[in-house]
Order: sequence, then C-alpha cells, then structure tokens
Amino acid sequence: MCGIVGYIGHREAYPVIIQGLERLEYRGYDSAGIALYDGDNLKVSKTKGKVEDLKSRVDKEITSSGSIGIGHTRWATHGVPNDINSHPHVSNSGNLVIIHNGIIENYDPLRQELINRGYTFSSDTDTEVLVNLIEDVKKNEDVRLGKAVQIALNQTIGAYAIAVFDKTKPNEIVVARLGSPLAIGVGDDEFFIASDATPFIEYTNNAIYLEDGEMAVVRSHKKLKIRKIKDDSLVDPYIQELQLNLEQIEKGGYDHFMIKEIYEQPDAITDTFRGRMLVDQGIVRMAGIDDNIEKFLNARRIIIVACGTSWHAGLVAEYIFEEFARIPVEVEYASEFRYRNPVIYKDDVVIAISQSGETADTMAAIKLAKKQGAFVFGVCNVVGSSISRETHAGAYTHAGPEIGVASTKAFTTQITILTLIALKLAKHKGELSNSEFRAYLQELERIPAKVTEALKCNEQAEHVAAQYKDAHNALYLGRGYNFPVALEGALKLKEISYIHAEGYPAAEMKHGPIALIDEQMPVVVIAMRKGHYEKVVSNIEEIKARSGKIIGIVTQGDKEVKKLADHVIEIPETLEPFTPLLATIPLQLLSYHIAVMLGKNVDQPRNLAKSVTVE
Ligand code: F6R
Repeated sequence: MCGIVGYIGHREAYPVIIQGLERLEYRGYDSAGIALYDGDNLKVSKTKGKVEDLKSRVDKEITSSGSIGIGHTRWATHGVPNDINSHPHVSNSGNLVIIHNGIIENYDPLRQELINRGYTFSSDTDTEVLVNLIEDVKKNEDVRLGKAVQIALNQTIGAYAIAVFDKTKPNEIVVARLGSPLAIGVGDDEFFIASDATPFIEYTNNAIYLEDGEMAVVRSHKKLKIRKIKDDSLVDPYIQELQLNLEQIEKGGYDHFMIKEIYEQPDAITDTFRGRMLVDQGIVRMAGIDDNIEKFLNARRIIIVACGTSWHAGLVAEYIFEEFARIPVEVEYASEFRYRNPVIYKDDVVIAISQSGETADTMAAIKLAKKQGAFVFGVCNVVGSSISRETHAGAYTHAGPEIGVASTKAFTTQITILTLIALKLAKHKGELSNSEFRAYLQELERIPAKVTEALKCNEQAEHVAAQYKDAHNALYLGRGYNFPVALEGALKLKEISYIHAEGYPAAEMKHGPIALIDEQMPVVVIAMRKGHYEKVVSNIEEIKARSGKIIGIVTQGDKEVKKLADHVIEIPETLEPFTPLLATIPLQLLSYHIAVMLGKNVDQPRNLAKSVTVE
C-alpha cells in the first residue's frame, strides 16, 4: 500500500510529482522517493521518512528536472522502511526505473533465478526483483519496454500498480495494474499517473482508471493505448470527467485534515442524501437499489463485509436494517470472512462498505461472495475506486475526499446511506407506514443541523481532553445503536493518540472489564435519553462505585447522568436509530484534542495508512 505518481509532458516534472506525493501520503508515509530524467542523467533520490524529508533533500539539488519522472510514497510490505528499500528502484544496468504499489508474492523464486543469471540486489524488496525481471526479458527477447513489462508481469503472482521508464528512451512510461489502483490523467500532450486523481486535479479533469489486468504505454504526443496484460488485446480507453476540485483536498484554514473533516460532516451528510431523499414526496431514490430492488426484497439475509471504521458503520447498519426492514443481517470482518469457508447463498445480498474502495480484504471478500453467486452491493466514498467497480451495484457516500487517516466523515456518511437504504426497503416491504416513513425522513433531514449543534461541544471536548490526555487506558461503553459508536470512539483514540482504549457493550462490562476500573480509568459512556437509558445509568452507577472517572455523552437537558458523571457532553435529541450520527461527534473531537495535546501526528498516525491495499 503506497502512493505512486508519474508525469510525462511539457512541464517540469519535479513540482508535479512532489506535490502529487504530498497528496498521496495518506496511502503510506514511511519513505519516499523520486526518479527524474533531465535530458542527460537519471536522478534518483529517496529517503526514509516523509515526502517533506525527500523535498528538503531534493529541492536543493534540482535546477532543471526534465519532463519525465516518477515518484513514490511507501508503506512498507517487504523490507524495513529505509533509504535502500525506498522506491524508485533501478535495474542492474541503471537504465530502467520503477515504482510499485502492491506485492509480488513469488518474488523469492524470481529473485533466485535472476541471481543465478548474474543479477545482484541491493534492497530487500519485491520491486527490485520486478524491475530486473523486466530488464532481463527486454534484453533476452529483444523487445520494447512495453512488451517486456507485459511478459514479465505474466510471470508474476501478486498485486501491483506500476510505472516504469527507460532512461535510454525517455519518451514513454509504461504503467500496469492488478489489484492496486492506477489512474491516468489525460492533459494536452501530457499524461499524469497516480494512485488516485488528487495529484493531477488542477491540471486536468479527464481521467482513465485502468482496470485490473490492464497496461498502457504513455507517450506525451501520442494517443494512449490500453492493452490486456494477459492476451495483448486492445481495450477502448474510457475517459471520465472528474467532479473533484482543489479546494476539497486542501486544509482550508484548519490545522489538520481530521478536524476539517469532522467539521465537514453536516455538509457531507447533506451531500449523501441530496437528490436521493425527497422528503416532501416521501420518496427515497437510489439507482443502485431501484434497479435491483427484487434482489434486496427477496434477500434471505444481508451480509455486511468491511474493515475498521467501515465495519463499525456496518454494525450500526445491522441494528438499522433489522429494526426497519426486518431483514436478518450479519456483519463480518472482511479479513475473517474471506479466509474461512463462509456459507453464502445465492439469495444473500452482500454489502461491502469501504471509504477508499481499495481495501484488499474487503475486495477479496467481494470476489468470494460473487464467486458463490451472491449479489454484491458496494458503499464507497472514492468514485471510480476498485471496489466500486468490482461490485454488481452500489451507492457512493459523496462525503468528499477524506485525507486524515482516521476516518470521521466516512463513518457518518456510511451510516446515512445505509439508513436510507434500510428505510427504502422497509417502505417497500410494508414494514413502515407512509407517515412513519415520512417522519423518519424528516428527522434525517434535520440531522446535519443537529450535527452542527453537536459540534459546538468542541471546547468542552478540549477541556475534557486536557484532563485525560495522560491516561494509559480508556473504556468506551454504549448499548444498542451506540455500542458500535463506543467501538468507534475507542478506535479513534487508539489510532491517533496511541492510548489503549476498549469499546464494550455497556452491559457486558460486568462480565470482565469492570475489573479494570479504578480512579485512573476514564470511562466514556454514551447514555442517550432514547434507548436503554435507565440501564446505562445503572452501568454508570457501577463505575462510580469503583471510582472510575465518568465522561457521559448525553442528550441535551439530561439530569440523571449529570448527577453521577465527572463530565457530561450534551448533544441534541434525535430518534434512537439516528443517535450514532450525533454521539460520534464528541468522541471524534475528544480523541482529536488528546492527540494534538500529546503532540502526535494526527493526520498521519504511526504505522497506519489511509487505504490498506495489502492483506
Ligand atoms: C480508522 C480507519 C480504518 C479504515 C479501514 C477500512 O479510522 O480509517 O480502520 O476504516 O482501514 O478502510 P476503508 O473504509 O477505506 O475500506
């Protein structure tokens, strides 16, 4: 899982590539590198660390960068993050240079064969094996670079998005993909290559997303030709017009992307239901559902597959689907589902949830479900992403780009779209009357304003954060719809502040975790007035009796919890199924402020990456 960028055309390549790498750092940031051909020499610079470190090294050296180059920001899979293992990698002759996102699984036997033929390797990476394999094919078969790449890739097993060029023929870049994303920006006599469209959006709105198993030879003054790697057949390029704009991917005055994205939630939720929820007419319109309504209505059950925060959104959806649509739901970690032998029926509907649309385990779960005949529906944020194309149908969340590694607006918009789907199915099945259905839509329409109201707790969250920032552990408790919110709150704290946190169903606390509670233990309890309120209050009493520090997330005007808790954060009242959309806000803010106070890298927490394209 890495970010790749390339450029060929009439501009200086360096600024385009370095800026592109900065935008792709969410994909990995343990090392970065760049290769440029300036007309005379191939210059390769790479370093352990972030793009910023690469920049401070390369900026000084660059006078003219030429107009062809490739760059890489890495999330290590083979070989520790260090300068040598960083990409780009150069072939033994010094002519070919490559960047790679993915894993070549059979790299070890290939490496042995190449060593037997006299090749040497300086890094521990699979990528250095690949570039030398291409070189070996090129030399032995006496073919052009494109053909050599094709032959070499047909010998590999694994996943890749690659860009490679030859310094002796610096008029073309060869790109290919299998399992890792690759977009080509099409400009006037210039092409941009990237893992997603963000690196080139200010240069062109026209993009081609390579499909799995496709490759292209990109030359600045020529038309692009796309071929299938396996059989060399030509594919008609499909150029999409992108709707993304630059403002959407910049920080817009906020200190971090995460806080910007937290504050974007009212708009993001509105964008999710815009044009789909017609409250006055009492209609929910969604092409992906409308076109496949029988599949959903006749579903034996719904299986939700996802990872991380998206899995938490899936858990909320389980409550919502079962409550409204009365369809049995199972929620599976994609990574577990794919590796057991799950029973999947042809009349199951599988919903895959993924912000990035690139998560490898979710993708594998989709393929498994499809193979066994199930109908697979995708809920993705990134338009044109691999998962959105692999599924039979789907719906985008339209949350806009999420750059902060910790997911925030993706979570609330995923819940929003899944709620819309559940309500729509409930209406079709006659589980909700027209007036009930309309009442839910009306309340959902009020949610963005209520999220805005909930965001007013920011200062209070900051105040609470200051008191607990030095805690070593934290417990998050919730019941019913807010149990998954407790899980999500704990995940947010863990991933950006590195404080150990656990989410638990509040009632389960007495079956074990209660042993952890003492005066050092902050316990965040979601205690909404709607839904098991009295029971949660009893749980709070149990914590208080053991001197735990209680941070209550409560409904505005709450009285009971206020009497017991050390701190309360109030959020507006809403219908019980919609409370996760509000209760999650203070939890996001709390973890954000703790991480900032601890001086952590909020947008790029250690060891993480925004899209996990490895298994
Ligand atoms: C947590 C987080 C991750 C992702 C997970 C799935 O804040 O961001 O847990 O939710 O890696 O990613 P997607 O949704 O892109 O499939």
